[in-house]
Amino acid sequence: MEKRKVRFFNTTGPCNPNDHYMLPPEERLVGAQLHRYIGDKLYWVLHAPRQTGKTTFLQSWMRQINVGDDVVACYVSVETCQGVPEAERAIPAMCDAIRRWSAQFGLPVPVVGSETPFAALNSILSNWAELLAPKSLIVLFDEVDVLQGEALISFLRQLRDGFANRGIGKFPVSIALVGMRDLKDYITATKGGIPPNPGSPFNIKEDSATLSNFRKEDIARLFAQRTEETGQQITREALEYVYDQSRGQPWIVNSLLQRATMRVLDVDSRDTVTVEHIREAREQMVLARETHLDALAYRLEDLRIRKVMESLITGEPDPLMAQGEPFRLCLDLGLVTIEKGTPGVANPIYREVIAREITYSTQLAIPAPEWRWEKPDGTLDMDALLKAFQDFW
Ligand SMILES: Nc1ncnc2c1ncn2[C@@H]1O[C@H](COP(=O)(O)OP(=O)(O)OP(=O)(O)O)[C@@H](O)[C@H]1O
Ligand SMILES: [Mg+2]
Repeated sequence: MEKRKVRFFNTTGPCNPNDHYMLPPEERLVGAQLHRYIGDKLYWVLHAPRQTGKTTFLQSWMRQINVGDDVVACYVSVETCQGVPEAERAIPAMCDAIRRWSAQFGLPVPVVGSETPFAALNSILSNWAELLAPKSLIVLFDEVDVLQGEALISFLRQLRDGFANRGIGKFPVSIALVGMRDLKDYITATKGGIPPNPGSPFNIKEDSATLSNFRKEDIARLFAQRTEETGQQITREALEYVYDQSRGQPWIVNSLLQRATMRVLDVDSRDTVTVEHIREAREQMVLARETHLDALAYRLEDLRIRKVMESLITGEPDPLMAQGEPFRLCLDLGLVTIEKGTPGVANPIYREVIAREITYSTQLAIPAPEWRWEKPDGTLDMDALLKAFQDFW
């Protein structure tokens, strides 16, 4: 008899229901009115911190929409425009991305009918809508936060120019702009900190939605899928510990459960997962510093971000800090959350990874470090760490 395929907890990119245990992505949206975006022809923003499930949601929603006959949705990532602030280079790269994604999903590939990059995006989107008529076109732009400067302004201006004329055969009826920041904040950043006024020509978005972290019961539901498939159980205490350490951050939850079930326990083991297994998984995860944790730690090379995180870790936040752009960026990235009015590092695992990173580089800056910040069991000694900070500053 053919062996039934067992899914796993995913930590590398978007989830898909054939391979991964996953929660219904659209349930996780906060503030979205999905049913209106297509019918009422609206443009909207989805913004949420890193590794929370934006792409997973977009790809799942796209599949749902495309089951019907009247509408075609296409996912387009603009990540190739990263670090390209000039519209002359970024807009053609965006047009290439549209053509590539369109081909990948088996849709007609549109052409650019404009010589100038300042109209090329508008032109390719119009042609795309024309090719797909009599169906309405929906475009889901992902990774929009990589756009910057003039490239971002030209991108928005060309969408705005098509917006008034949107419709079947003319221009995408609905567009989602997806990244870690709200549209207003991109524009503010581009204009050197000056927020756009409410009558701004870029005001085409109807709604801003976000994604929530998992609640405790979501983590239990996620593991229940494994129990159903394999019979493996997890203790209540272990689930509580996963929540406490992750505060429901989706990637961390998956990473802890994946390590516990595939590394700490043998991949074929059906032993009940206990809090000790999760603790071991946690230790491995912090030391291994997988891509997501590494990328967050890398952000500390931006000294403005580092300052915010240092002050939160040492418990000496500057009262004016919360008003600054670096603080907003830390919130957008998901490094910081505000609970009951008090900002703090988003979860104990980020806290440890960031503290280790800061301490490590601080250690390099001190001529002869005498202090130790690691306990004999390898965990972080917070008291030693705080003392190290105080001595250093
Ligand atoms: N619906 C879901 N159910 C379970 N886990 C999920 C779900 N969506 C996302 N995740 C977890 O979050 C991780 C990141 O998912 P995804 O790539 O969709 O996020 P993202 O917000 O697009 O990330 P980035 O900010 O890097 O673009 C997945 O690898 C998985 O661990
Ligand atoms: Mg993504």
